[in-house]
Amino acid sequence: MGDRLQGTTAVVTGASSGIGEAVTRALVAHGATVAALARRRDRLETLAAELGDAVVAIEADVTDDDAVRGAIDRVAADHGGIGVLVNNAGYGAWSPALDADLAEWRRMVEVNLTAVLATSHAALPHLVEAATGPRGVADLVSISSIAGRKVPGPASNVYAATKHGVGAFSEALRVELAERHVRVGLVEPGIVTSEMTTSGAEFAPDARGASEYRALDPAAIADAVVYMVSRPRGVAVHEMLVRPTEQER
Ligand SMILES: NC(=O)c1ccc[n+]([C@@H]2O[C@H](COP(=O)([O-])OP(=O)(O)OC[C@H]3O[C@@H](n4cnc5c(N)ncnc54)[C@H](OP(=O)(O)O)[C@@H]3O)[C@@H](O)[C@H]2O)c1
Repeated sequence: MGDRLQGTTAVVTGASSGIGEAVTRALVAHGATVAALARRRDRLETLAAELGDAVVAIEADVTDDDAVRGAIDRVAADHGGIGVLVNNAGYGAWSPALDADLAEWRRMVEVNLTAVLATSHAALPHLVEAATGPRGVADLVSISSIAGRKVPGPASNVYAATKHGVGAFSEALRVELAERHVRVGLVEPGIVTSEMTTSGAEFAPDARGASEYRALDPAAIADAVVYMVSRPRGVAVHEMLVRPTEQER
């Protein structure tokens, strides 16, 4: 499809399904080698078998700091650096606060926010190094949500809090890393068809009205990521909110 990312190694977290799988496919289609990280090894291996040498399957839990750092350092050593990080792994447990399970709140904070911090922390030295290479720029993209811009409604309480946190962290990193030519971007999807929204959870976004319109295919979010990371080195697209056309809120 293109070779704009030829010679670039990317790490994509949560690559075993939904948006992360689509981002992996799209980055490979544009020439990148992708280290696809998630817990479900069988899913990653199926993807790697389909896409060939351009995908390296890495079984890891993003909440395990040592595993993530080890994986990132190994990818950088084996593939001559890391030029793109996509923080995509996420978890949504929608429940009214009065009924909520505190362990679920904690899990959302750990997967959606703390793991983004830990993965970014591990990858940043490699991104800074890659920005001095032939592409002249490196990219850190996080998949946030409309819920990272505004609280979309009841039952999105802690999910929205984690995504707002990702937004604040991204903006702070953007300011710090601008001079180092590391672009920091945020993609904010509306409702996308994935395991997260078709899980049948009582308060999941699909139950709040996705049936009223057509949810996005994960490939639409992958398009946005590819657009961000394939701009010329002097152009930084920092934020993209992508909704289904008919989604009003
Ligand atoms: N779907 C939507 O409508 C929507 C809207 C806005 C934003 N988002 C965001 O988009 C991102 C991707 O979600 P999705 O919709 O594609 O849902 P999904 O199909 O459920 O994918 C979630 C991915 O995260 C991975 N993951 C979860 N916990 C993990 C952990 N502890 N360690 C490693 N990987 C973990 C899962 O892999 P394993 O289970 O194999 O580990 C899976 O690959 C999330 O950040 C989500 O918040 C989604």
